[in-house]
Amino acid sequence: MDNQKVQIFDTTLRDGEQVPGCKLNTAQKLVIARRLDELGVDVIEAGFPISSPGDFNSVEAIAKVVENATVCALTRAVKEDIDVAAKALQYAKKPRIHTGIGTSDSHIKYKFNASRDEIINRAAEAISYAKTFVDDVEFYAEDAGRTDNEFLAYVCSEAIKAGATVLNIPDTTGYCLPDEYGAKIKYLKENVIGIEKAILSCHCHNDLGLATANSIAGVINGARQIECTINGIGERAGNTALEEVVMILRQHPTLGLDTNINSKLLYDTSRMVSESMGMFVQPNKAIVGANAFAHSSGIHQDGVIKNRETYEIMNPHDVGVTESAIVLTARSGRAALAYRAKKIGYELTKLQLDIVYLEFLKYADKKKEVIDGDVHQIIKDSNISILV
Ligand code: KIV
Ligand code: ZN
Repeated sequence: MDNQKVQIFDTTLRDGEQVPGCKLNTAQKLVIARRLDELGVDVIEAGFPISSPGDFNSVEAIAKVVENATVCALTRAVKEDIDVAAKALQYAKKPRIHTGIGTSDSHIKYKFNASRDEIINRAAEAISYAKTFVDDVEFYAEDAGRTDNEFLAYVCSEAIKAGATVLNIPDTTGYCLPDEYGAKIKYLKENVIGIEKAILSCHCHNDLGLATANSIAGVINGARQIECTINGIGERAGNTALEEVVMILRQHPTLGLDTNINSKLLYDTSRMVSESMGMFVQPNKAIVGANAFAHSSGIHQDGVIKNRETYEIMNPHDVGVTESAIVLTARSGRAALAYRAKKIGYELTKLQLDIVYLEFLKYADKKKEVIDGDVHQIIKDSNISILV
């Protein structure tokens, strides 16, 4: 049986761009939007058009150029927001309006000073109004992670009745545990009236480092869209990282789920977003960090040189990384040194390697990393006759 598709909804240009200091101009956003389209995302959330004239222009420009993906714009459950979003999306081949409202008790009380019934009415009115402009309307129940499941199911049922085709269940504050978030999706799948007409979407924040785990728990329990950003950028600790969920689904075929993403573009896209936003990627970041395919301890290096699969659960080529790196440090063993020496032209005998290795250790203890130039010098200093 074919794997079921999970839609990838990229919000790098909306939730991701909310990061302080990461503001992009329209030209930069267009470059990223084109790349996201090429990467194969299903939906590009291009911005929040009512928020500023600049954001309106960016959404409009993106809507004009995107060829394949649905282009989405965010609104509050407010008519004026929806008018502006619809205008910004007018040239999109596949437009989507993403509207919604807070549903947790704390949002209802402190943000809206309203009752649950009033919140449901405002949500339903916004969805019906958005439907007058586009067929594809996504509803978000902000802070769904802290909304009780029974009320959430009721809100979602009303949202479907008003015409929503996608139900976004955000863990806005990144508070849920994976079991809890997964159970929430399962509950909604089983209790929302009309759920067969809509798809459930995971939108998880990373405040406790659980955004990816929660999104995966969501799709295991029936959600069929994940909202995510390149490099996991986003408010506070960020959003679910696109590259992580894509590779988790790909590396675990027994889940029976996959995406339309061309994973070979992941590394390059990560670098593109990092450079244009001026936000560096931590070296140990899963999938796209500089050390994600670098091996530095002797035991691991020996294994990888014999067979990559000993310490690598995915092929670096599959994410666009040219090759795994064997990094020489004071923790490296003879196998790594011989491997690196060979790469730069030295075929060492066992005896020669023993001598060079002693010299290498003295050198490596003084440096964080031994690079190719150092290896040339170490071999020279070892005074051995070499077959080159
Ligand atoms: O985190 C959140 O709740 C959001 C919504 C606006 C979708 O970003
Ligand atoms: Zn968010």
